[in-house]
Amino acid sequence: MSELAARIRQLKKEKNALILAHVYTPPEVQDAADFVGDSLGLSRRSADVSITQDKIIFCGVYFMAETAAILAPRKKVYIPEPKAGCPMADMAEVDGVLKLKAAHPDAAVVTYVNSTAAVKAVSDICVTSANAVRIAQKLPQKKIIFVPDKSLGAYVAAQALDKEIILWPGFCPTHHRILGEFLARAQSAHPEALVLAHPENNKNILDRADFIGSTGQMQKYAAESPAREFIVASENGLIYRLQTDNPAKKFYPVTPLAVCPNMKKNTLEKLLNVLENEANLVTLAEKTAVKARLAVQKMLELA
Ligand code: 13P
Ligand code: SF4
Repeated sequence: MSELAARIRQLKKEKNALILAHVYTPPEVQDAADFVGDSLGLSRRSADVSITQDKIIFCGVYFMAETAAILAPRKKVYIPEPKAGCPMADMAEVDGVLKLKAAHPDAAVVTYVNSTAAVKAVSDICVTSANAVRIAQKLPQKKIIFVPDKSLGAYVAAQALDKEIILWPGFCPTHHRILGEFLARAQSAHPEALVLAHPENNKNILDRADFIGSTGQMQKYAAESPAREFIVASENGLIYRLQTDNPAKKFYPVTPLAVCPNMKKNTLEKLLNVLENEANLVTLAEKTAVKARLAVQKMLELA
């Protein structure tokens, strides 16, 4: 263990802090965390009342730390790099959602957790990539306004055929850098490999996938599958998690371009800075937090 990692381990005990990390963060940050997971798993962990730590350090992007702060109002939530945003979350804004809502009063506003707290606050329910299909199917409304990811929304529409889905035009720039030609090349290089894909990918990638799911669901599938080789159509940080947890199997990225620069802004140095100085506290306007909490809690109840 590096000196930096050892200092983080010691300080987190002294400060009674829990370190959470998304699977897209750099390997050394994942190794320093108490729990590594997908958005749903990390939200559940933040909301877990049995957590005794009074501080959560969330290594991920801002909307994830904000969701933890929404779900754990009595804890202090910190983020190593407050400028680690999610461009897709920033593609949706409150006024546009309210206009759509007014134009379709019979529709439910279903918002991917990759969104700002303000957008969550004007939504009926949140979803993650792990439960979007199931939740859309369970909702009583026939019409759904799906915000902000058009790729995940189209994937939901293809599964929930009795629903009418209005798509917000957002997308993940990282997943959209994964092109069909790159996947075709990876498949010819590794003809035995199964293709795992995140639903934020374009349809032409999803059409070629053997399994589609959240990062957590891809982890479970790869661990349980008898297959030995996998091509991973998602952000490349996931490869480290998959390879570490399944050393006898092989995992290949589709392209070196599938990197989320914001997730990589999480470093051990910044994590240590948060622990030493209690810097970068995530704060939320109370009114927004209360409304956003309703949408996120509804998801946790229905999922
Ligand atoms: P997961 O919820 O599947 O971990 O995805 C989060 C994300 O940001 C994907 O780009
Ligand atoms: Fe946002 Fe895409 Fe990065 Fe996920 S991978 S945090 S959706 S930009």
